[in-house]
Amino acid sequence: MTAQVIDGKAFAARVRAQVGEHVGRLKAEHGLVPGLAVVLVGEDPASQVYVRSKGKQTVEVGMKSVEHRLEVDTSEADLLALIEALNADASIHGILVQLPLPKHLNEELVIGSIDPAKDVDGFHISNVGLLGTGQKSMVPCTPLGCLMMLRDHHGSLSGMDAVVIGRSNIVGKPMAQLLLGDSCTVTIAHSRTKDLADVVRRADIVVAAVGRPEMVPGDWIKPGATVIDVGINRVPNGEKTRLVGDVDYDSCAAVAGAITPVPGGVGPMTIACLLANTLTACCRANGLPEPEGLTA
Ligand code: GUN
Repeated sequence: MTAQVIDGKAFAARVRAQVGEHVGRLKAEHGLVPGLAVVLVGEDPASQVYVRSKGKQTVEVGMKSVEHRLEVDTSEADLLALIEALNADASIHGILVQLPLPKHLNEELVIGSIDPAKDVDGFHISNVGLLGTGQKSMVPCTPLGCLMMLRDHHGSLSGMDAVVIGRSNIVGKPMAQLLLGDSCTVTIAHSRTKDLADVVRRADIVVAAVGRPEMVPGDWIKPGATVIDVGINRVPNGEKTRLVGDVDYDSCAAVAGAITPVPGGVGPMTIACLLANTLTACCRANGLPEPEGLTA
């Protein structure tokens, strides 16, 4: 079998188009413009690239984009004061503090200071708890993007065996909660899991989110399974480098029923879902119906 390739780039473009249409209606019918504030502390080059991309795409779907670039030695008090001001600003519906933060800043404290209703990353413990108890929450963008692709490919996920490899707070754990919410039988595997190959072989859905280049070989994949590769790993390639996922693409694609490529799979969905979450936050803040198909 050769797997169907799930085109995340095209999917993300569709999500952005849907968000853009909805934003147009909010403006026309209610005079509302969703606003997203991104806070970047320091000058980490990768973070700067992400932040620029987020700002550009936010404007492209018709939303207001605000960027706060703070010096690397910004005090915790100053950062918390900025977040407090953004919490109180009615024109801002989503707040994202780019991670990682410089070492002198307490990430948990900073994330905990964001109004949960504006926490478009879904990292606040209130949102983590709401997701874990099956209540309406803000859902982390990368797992939300994976869920959208899985629902699009399969329709219902009910009763499917899903294995999530990786137990991070940002991807692995919320991904498992979302799959459970869609009635999958979910296993979370990690670096201490015994017989990982056997665990993965049972799965109809494999979500790989460990950050280890090409660690899942094709002979771990059940024939016909769907493979969602969250990994983005830069590896040497002659004089240059190239991006690879957490699964060995060629051998997995030869066995799987469907697979996301790297690049062009999960990656583009993350910012698309950030825009979707900002739209959702704006609708909720104004007591309006949420956009269909863009939430968990
Ligand atoms: N750094 C890398 N990815 C992310 C993300 O999705 N959200 C935040 N806040 N920081 C990140």
